[in-house]
Amino acid sequence: MKVVSVVGARPQLVKLAPIAAAFAETDHEHVIVHTGQHYDANLSDVFFTGLGIPDPDVHLGIGSGSHGVQTGGVLAAIDPVLAEQAPDWVLVYGDTNSTLAGALSAVKQHIKVAHLEAGLRSFNRRMPEEHNRVLTDHCADVLLAPTEQAVRHLATEGLADRTVLAGDVMVDVCLRVRDAVLSGQHPRPTLPEGIDPDAPYLIATLHRAENTDDPARLAALLAALAELPVPVALLAHPRLLAKADQYGLKIGQGAVHVGQPLGYAGLIAAVLGSAGVVTDSGGLQKEAYLLGRPCTTLRSETEWVETLDGGWNHLVPDPGALGPGDWIATATRPTPQAERGTPYGDGQAARRVVQILAERLG
Ligand code: UD1
Repeated sequence: MKVVSVVGARPQLVKLAPIAAAFAETDHEHVIVHTGQHYDANLSDVFFTGLGIPDPDVHLGIGSGSHGVQTGGVLAAIDPVLAEQAPDWVLVYGDTNSTLAGALSAVKQHIKVAHLEAGLRSFNRRMPEEHNRVLTDHCADVLLAPTEQAVRHLATEGLADRTVLAGDVMVDVCLRVRDAVLSGQHPRPTLPEGIDPDAPYLIATLHRAENTDDPARLAALLAALAELPVPVALLAHPRLLAKADQYGLKIGQGAVHVGQPLGYAGLIAAVLGSAGVVTDSGGLQKEAYLLGRPCTTLRSETEWVETLDGGWNHLVPDPGALGPGDWIATATRPTPQAERGTPYGDGQAARRVVQILAERLG
């Protein structure tokens, strides 16, 4: 069996790591195509080196642009690559513009498409990620769902016969790296200047278009982080830096200490050392849950609804609407005591994915 993985943005590289490792245990041929959607070294290269992923076989070098330009650029560039590779499967990951373009190119060339992390829904049709998920699910041949909830969403949309519950490959990589960090195999992460790693601190990230692209909203979120009574290590995504600069907003005010995005092991170590997480990232909500740290999510909905059980994750769409006391109490709440269960699977999802693709080929 020959499988082409199409990746391009940071969260896809994290998911690619366990998949590439699972393929390496077999005789199947695995080809990696990087679209170049993320091109900064700390959003791309560090994941290949840090997670031991083989270098991409093909790099499309697409870069940034409007949604149409970025998606169309990948679509045009990947067509001849898939035609030449002629794989049995194209495997696309998550919900980025690279995911949709990879799926579309494959389906139009009658190459089978498998969608990893299928069936997630925010039901917020203003999110680019939601368009990408829904469209990719509806054109893929096999839907690799990470959770029971995702399976239910796909059934509701009439896609039950293409759906398989595979589990979540992010558990595979998160638990492996957590164990390596706890056994001292990684150096301490570089936290932003002014953060004492031995005193309580929060980890924060902010990059979703719905939070960064409206100046008033971005200003309000930055002000809410600034007034927290605990130091906040804000690991700034390039989109956040670019938008704050464009709107003339200062990111590093009050409690906030600004730093670079971290590599994967650095991020896991930083979360393990923290008192909690404040974020709008999908992956980080789940990593906080898996690592047992309380998470406050700056959105009105989450695709990872299981993290809300037992108070491990709280949704705060608008900190200002809560009043200063309630916002601070939520973001700095102590670690919940509730049991977490294993809604995201057993850490063996990547091997299962390879097996499912081989079986479904026959
Ligand atoms: C993308 C995904 C999002 C994912 C996120 C992870 C889409 C629609 N969104 O959002 O689902 O959660 O990746 O990070 O696919 N930029 C750089 N260097 C880079 C990459 C981006 O400077 O390496 C800047 C550019 O100014 C660009 C902006 O960040 O315009 C946004 O990048 P883009 O790829 O459009 O979306 P993300 O916000 O990263």
